[in-house]
Amino acid sequence: MSINYDERIPNNVDLASQRTLQRALEHWQPNYLRWWAEMGPEKSSTLEVYLRTAVSVDPKGWAHYGYVRMPEYRWGIFLAPAEKDRRIGFGAHKGEAVWQEVPGEYRSTLRRLIVTQGDTEPASVEQQRHLGLTCPSLYDLRNLFQVNVEEGRHLWAMVYLLHAYFGRDGREEAEALLERRSGDADNPRILTAFNEKTPDWLSFFMFTFLTDRDGKFQLAALAESAFDPLSRTCRFMLTEEAHHLFVGESGVARIIERTCQVMAEHRTDDPVRLRGLGVIDLPTLQKYLNFHYSVTSDLYGGEVSSNAASFYTSGLKGRFEEGKIADDHRLEGLEYPVPEVVGDRIVTRHVPALTALNERLRDDWAREVEAAIGRWNRIPEKHGVAFRFRLPHKGFHRKIGVFAGLHVSPDGEVLSEAQWTHRHGEWLPTESDRAYVHSLMGRVTQPGKFANWIAPPHQGINRMPIDFEYVRFN
Ligand SMILES: [Fe+2]
Ligand SMILES: [Fe+2]
Repeated sequence: MSINYDERIPNNVDLASQRTLQRALEHWQPNYLRWWAEMGPEKSSTLEVYLRTAVSVDPKGWAHYGYVRMPEYRWGIFLAPAEKDRRIGFGAHKGEAVWQEVPGEYRSTLRRLIVTQGDTEPASVEQQRHLGLTCPSLYDLRNLFQVNVEEGRHLWAMVYLLHAYFGRDGREEAEALLERRSGDADNPRILTAFNEKTPDWLSFFMFTFLTDRDGKFQLAALAESAFDPLSRTCRFMLTEEAHHLFVGESGVARIIERTCQVMAEHRTDDPVRLRGLGVIDLPTLQKYLNFHYSVTSDLYGGEVSSNAASFYTSGLKGRFEEGKIADDHRLEGLEYPVPEVVGDRIVTRHVPALTALNERLRDDWAREVEAAIGRWNRIPEKHGVAFRFRLPHKGFHRKIGVFAGLHVSPDGEVLSEAQWTHRHGEWLPTESDRAYVHSLMGRVTQPGKFANWIAPPHQGINRMPIDFEYVRFN
């Protein structure tokens, strides 16, 4: 079904024929817009932004590009096409037909999964709301806003499920999603990483590179769900998510590129000199990577989890690319390695694979991050710079799971409190690192111009030139 833009809420779920649901969502819509006005990108309401809007769910041509004022963006409800005769791919119900309604026994668990996912979407918009005031270029400003409107749409995607399948509780949860606030002491967002600040563009790029990628892996696991509307919703969200990951990976790559250019030009790797030259030294980038990597790692939860096991067995949440894995998809008798700390040593222990699904998803994510870091490392290599980025040990700076309460170095050494206090400034951004990065944040709004600390991209958006006016200020 194509998307009808004549309706108040664009959708491909035939909302017009479900009057009660349509009215409930139309009632939520102004509350959403109030939230956007209050917590969305600051001072952005009059800007015209060159944005993509979904006009179909066809993988070959789903987006339309054009100037939009963001409060007029057409947030809608788009599900990937139903797969004919889709069967449950894993767990106790493997082989049965997928569900078009929520089974009573899984209702509250499923609602919690959807609310937790839904909560991250507006949270990231809130975290990023000040960044437009310090954009390094119009190209980057447009990308930030594209990410923001799509996170807004992801909230719509989850709210649709809550309204359509969870009755009154679902409607109450949908309201609460607009009431929590990232970083709020009394009513914070559900997950810790979504209550951290995103105070500068380096943090933004690291966030989209790492934390949006957590989003990708969570959505991929939910796309396997036996609850078909959730699966279809997540499948379309994944199409949008790819751009967010691109913004993050290429954003950091352009910072590395710029620093390496300056290092080669001035034949120096002295961080003090490089800061004097207005670029971000590579060790500081590594510290930001360490910080965001560890905070995002925590989002996957404890290594061993009976909740994760029951989500899987019940068919609510699968593994990443479940269909490509060659096993029984029930995990009977299978094991998976998880870390364990014995005294001051980190060892590996084998546990039933069913209980280690959080760890497995975290490992899948980490593998993808590792591959991207390999791509980053070609940049210093190309410039003849010796520095190489690397991921810290999975126990580094963790707050959840077996490493919580311990201090582990990036090399995987268990440290004493005193050692950690003495050394953590080498591994995590210090106040002065953050202050330096903050000092670079200006606002560049001339088409084709870029802040000194970041290289231009290789190409523009939608094959437009790099000096295209991606945002009009009027
Ligand atoms: Fe999202
Ligand atoms: Fe995203």
